[in-house]
Amino acid sequence: MAENKGKYYITTPIYYPSSNLHIGHTYCTVMADAMARFKRLSGYDVRFLTGTDEHGQKIQDIAEKQGVSPQEYVDGIVAGIKDLWATMEISYDDFIRTTEPRHVKRVQAIFNKLYEKGDIYKGEYEGMYCTPCESFWTESQLVDGKCPDCGRPVTKAKEEAYFFRLSKYQDRLLELFENHPEFLEPESRRNEMIAFVKQGLDDLCISRSTFDWGIPVPIDEKHVIYVWLDALTNYITALGYPDDPELYNEYWPVNVHLVGKEIVRFHTVIWPAMLMSLDIPLPQKVLGHGWLLLEGGKMSKSKGNVVDPVVLIDRYGIDALKYFLLREYTFGQDGVFTNEVMLKRMNYDLANDLGNLVSRTVSMIEKYNGGIVPAYTDATDPLDDELKAIATGAASKVEANMDEFKFNMALEEIWVVIRRANKYIDETMPWVLAKSEDTKPRLDNVLRNLTEAIRIVSVLIHPFMHTTSDAIRKQLGLWYADVAWEDAFVFDLAEGAQVKKGDPIFPRLDIEKEIEELEALQKGPEDVNIPLELKDEIVYEDFDKLDLRVGTILSAEKHPDADKLLVFQVKLGTEKRQIISGVAKHFKPEECIGKKVVVVANLKPRKLRGLESKGMILFADNEVDGKETLEFVTTSADDGNPVT
Ligand code: MSP
Repeated sequence: MAENKGKYYITTPIYYPSSNLHIGHTYCTVMADAMARFKRLSGYDVRFLTGTDEHGQKIQDIAEKQGVSPQEYVDGIVAGIKDLWATMEISYDDFIRTTEPRHVKRVQAIFNKLYEKGDIYKGEYEGMYCTPCESFWTESQLVDGKCPDCGRPVTKAKEEAYFFRLSKYQDRLLELFENHPEFLEPESRRNEMIAFVKQGLDDLCISRSTFDWGIPVPIDEKHVIYVWLDALTNYITALGYPDDPELYNEYWPVNVHLVGKEIVRFHTVIWPAMLMSLDIPLPQKVLGHGWLLLEGGKMSKSKGNVVDPVVLIDRYGIDALKYFLLREYTFGQDGVFTNEVMLKRMNYDLANDLGNLVSRTVSMIEKYNGGIVPAYTDATDPLDDELKAIATGAASKVEANMDEFKFNMALEEIWVVIRRANKYIDETMPWVLAKSEDTKPRLDNVLRNLTEAIRIVSVLIHPFMHTTSDAIRKQLGLWYADVAWEDAFVFDLAEGAQVKKGDPIFPRLDIEKEIEELEALQKGPEDVNIPLELKDEIVYEDFDKLDLRVGTILSAEKHPDADKLLVFQVKLGTEKRQIISGVAKHFKPEECIGKKVVVVANLKPRKLRGLESKGMILFADNEVDGKETLEFVTTSADDGNPVT
């Protein structure tokens, strides 16, 4: 057994069960799982926590639209999430749901502690609220009047609410960033947070009374606790804090909170301030990873353009998907997901490099030595030393990379061994050595060295692809022995093993055919039926107030005093009128002429930079090559006609 190196507590974000998880969530969980498995194998006492963040208005709204209770809704989605993690053999030690009684009672106890400390008070909140993000924003934080995080519209909201004295912790937070640079890396992200905190922190509104799907504020049941306060505490409530502190005493403070870059702010400002208020130690590290994007831009459940991990697992297996996610992307940076890049990785690295090495070696041992791994002989060559040095030196390089969460580099170090071993076969040409009894000792040595190198690879890949590791060990005849990290440092363990050829560990894929089939399976929004996030519902009478008409654009020119505006002359049947729109960056004036458009014709006229605009032309948002663009909403009907 490896020496006990102490405890290691790692967490993922708790995901919103607003709909099924996609490859982006899978990416984060796969990284956390690989790290947990790596730490376990290298001798740590690991605790790995994941879970679901189930409260909040967004969930309540979705459930209502589907005609089920929020609890029923989340139960269904969470069952699917747990199934996905079970299929992927994610090795979490605990899965916390924020609707579980153990969490609810502990969040309330934490609220009371903060209140008793004098850090919670009652006030009134007025601000701009983004429902999908569950976030209040100040006017100055909005970008183009929209939510700075997701770009969706916000609504004005005012309510009596409880506040957390976040402002009180401003200086201590700055000290934390300055004195403990390791708390938040990379430096660029730390600088962003320092700048954010230096702007001045407002107290945080931590209760809501406009909906009820949340944990009741223990001192005032008309309110529910703000979903982020509820969610962040999961990292300690799952350890039993405060009433059952055994695990908490063992594992807190956490070694790493692994989170997506968009929620670093919650984890490095609000969360440490809460912990300071509770007088308990802070996380050792918060690590923000980048996003997986699609070629067209962000993956988004509401757009329906998400990549479903289940489709990929069904076709290629868990290990191939995990390998791809960990090998392809650089931690901390965004990366683009494409089927082609994924399939090439699977073919080149897994089927060719690793698969071939194992099958060639096992076949040769069967063919040339009756399936038994030979003993070392004196027939050595400097090539052997080189292979041995690379193979036995890889584990510490993997460790060094894993310490920095460089999963891709850790795997690259393992593939250095694999590629070197393949080259060693080409250089030593065992099929030539097999031709004469004289070279049998040399052949034995070559086969033995290859087996040792593959055995080391089987140990090194174990945290990333344990099923493949087991399959390789089975073919090598080592499968009965536990995988031990220390075994990756030695080159003398496989003598006498009985090898047995099995199925190829990774089949070769016909990339073109796979792309075609995958695209058919991943067909966009028509396959999915996810309720859109909409503005508040209106009644027919509200809609009927609008007078929409077809118009023909007669001319268009730039506004003399505003770069963003285009001034259109539009014919609506018998009437000609001027309409101004803020679309100059999307259209050249000349390309607009002659377009048949839809106009809100009874909109009260208003002046824009000195010119009157009478009505509004409708546009649809679009995305081309990842860039936000606009399109006219057009029709071929005669101008002046109503649009109903
Ligand atoms: N519920 C909050 C987190 C609370 S933690 C106390 C939340 N949930 S979420 O469902 O939106 O999931 C967020 C996490 O999922 C991200 O932080 C990130 O780790 C992962 N990802 C979601 N989409 C992703 C990509 N497109 N790419 C990579 N990771 C992504 O925020």
